[in-house]
Amino acid sequence: ADERTLVLIKPDAVRRGLVGEIISRFERKGLRIDAMQTRTLGGDLADQHYAEHVDKPFYPPLKAFMTGGPLVALVLSGDQVIDVVRAMIGSTDGRKAAAGTIRGDLSLSNRENLVHASDSPDSAKRELGLWFPELG
Ligand code: CMP
Repeated sequence: ADERTLVLIKPDAVRRGLVGEIISRFERKGLRIDAMQTRTLGGDLADQHYAEHVDKPFYPPLKAFMTGGPLVALVLSGDQVIDVVRAMIGSTDGRKAAAGTIRGDLSLSNRENLVHASDSPDSAKRELGLWFPELG
């Protein structure tokens, strides 16, 4: 069934000029872009977005990275889009992500891994509410 998910094209991707490459992959897959916005993440929204990670040792450098430059936030929709996008992104660590995935093809880092996507229907609902409250 049709779903929506939140995707963040992270500051490393913007810095490296990979925004078009990444959006192009989603478009070619047949997913729809329901909303898209360039913005610089503030500390409060970072803490809310990454609520499950705020106490982890990797969080301070993650927060500095994510708030350190503009990113592109997208709402994507399509059939089973949450799982489809997770598969297209690949596993967290770009050094281990499978070839053919965005991270596997374009990232060599566990932190600067180019994209974030909601990992479940519950997290999609929560994250869409944080980033695009106007979509309802
Ligand atoms: P993301 O999918 O946005 O979810 C949490 C983020 O934390 C993850 O992508 C990485 O950017 C980062 N991350 C997760 N695990 C680690 C780790 N062990 N070391 C550094 N960064 C991490």
